[in-house]
Amino acid sequence: MGTIDLVTEIPGPRSRAILERKVRVVCNPLDIHAPAVIAEALGAAFTDADGNTLLDFSGGLGCHLVGYSHPKVVEAVQRQAARFSHTDFSVIPYEVYVELAERLVRLTGGGDRKVALFNAGAEAVENAVKFAKAFTGRNALICFEGAFHGRTLLTMSLTSRHRPYKTGFGPFAPEVYRFPFPYPYRSAHPDEAGRMSLEALERGFTTMVDPQTVAAAIVEPIQGEGGFVVPTPDFLSGLKDLCARHGILVIADEIQSGTGRTGMFLASEHFDFEPDVVCLAKSLASGYPLSAVVARAEIMDAPGPSAIGGTYVGNPVACARGGRQDHPVELGAHRGGRPRGGRGPRGRSHDRGRVRRGPGDPGAERRVRRGPHAGGHGPRGGHRVVRAVPQRAPASGAARDHRRAAGGGPRHPGRERRGSPPAPRPDGCRRRRLTAARGATPVRTE
Ligand SMILES: Cc1ncc(COP(=O)(O)O)c(C=O)c1O
Repeated sequence: MGTIDLVTEIPGPRSRAILERKVRVVCNPLDIHAPAVIAEALGAAFTDADGNTLLDFSGGLGCHLVGYSHPKVVEAVQRQAARFSHTDFSVIPYEVYVELAERLVRLTGGGDRKVALFNAGAEAVENAVKFAKAFTGRNALICFEGAFHGRTLLTMSLTSRHRPYKTGFGPFAPEVYRFPFPYPYRSAHPDEAGRMSLEALERGFTTMVDPQTVAAAIVEPIQGEGGFVVPTPDFLSGLKDLCARHGILVIADEIQSGTGRTGMFLASEHFDFEPDVVCLAKSLASGYPLSAVVARAEIMDAPGPSAIGGTYVGNPVACARGGRQDHPVELGAHRGGRPRGGRGPRGRSHDRGRVRRGPGDPGAERRVRRGPHAGGHGPRGGHRVVRAVPQRAPASGAARDHRRAAGGGPRHPGRERRGSPPAPRPDGCRRRRLTAARGATPVRTE
């Protein structure tokens, strides 16, 4: 599985034919990052409709921390789907929801925390704000430059970048105030970046918004879509102290940074920062739609009966688990590694890859587009950044886990083991075998 195997040009003829059909019947805003239509996948690699095997650095946009089709995830999902698939938890409740809530309480610090499950990340953020408003009786919200919180009206309002997410979709939700997020790597005073952001917020409490009207400040402890931005160590605890002085809750949007992505279960843990409310999604259920809000009981119990919910929220198949160590939540939580903070001008990001400082890199887009031709695929980044949110240890550890968990089974579903004759490929097509080290290096350019 650590091997890239290109047997046609990308896109190959079958992918091209499907993409031509897609253009006729699927709306254009759903544009495609990788012109290779997936047929099957395992671990960090996927095989397309033409038989090309590529390494995937998008990981379902950050959902496949434990890799595609982890055998224990597949087993748990199949078992639950065979038992029952959907009831609406608030009509007929089920144990897998309660079990997952117990696990999330434990993993986020224990105590009297409670949980509510939803489908998508944006839904978790929307509901976190509802809990905060019900608890505080206030309306206004604080958010930060560079943040991404989703595509619904409220989460779009909280999201920073106008293009491609907001332009043409206003007016946005009222009472949303945006302040600078510390970006030490691009700051003239890297070590002071957090302090300067906190000063801007404190000033804003006099010049922009009465803090007594603010329900919550929402923050990504490490910004994802905004460019993998690691704040200075003082910022998050300083934000918590400042907000606590005014009775404002702090919501940590850990949808991308949480569930083990940075080595700890929550990225907040790296900063000695205890948010009042936590939002989780993405790798929470290894690609099955599931998100969560976790907070103290007094916050979670504040809205009235039926004020929180939804037909599909906390779907039992998404909640399912195989055993104590088998749940994607724990598989994610037990991976090692710490974020490498971009503190100085030559600092590195918390994710792997090369970092180049500057106003923007025209080569970034070109490098992403080249990705599939070099045997790797990663998502387009936003402003100045190529985003890589892969499976952990894409070419080695994850593949080993998969093979071990599968009892040393086939290297790829439907494929023969090493030593077997290669699959036939289209005439005139020369096989290119690239080592994982060459084809798989995550490219991250700023
Ligand atoms: C930090 C963060 N919050 C919220 C969201 C929205 O999640 P979803 O796309 O599941 O609604 C995302 C998605 O990328 C995200 O990265």
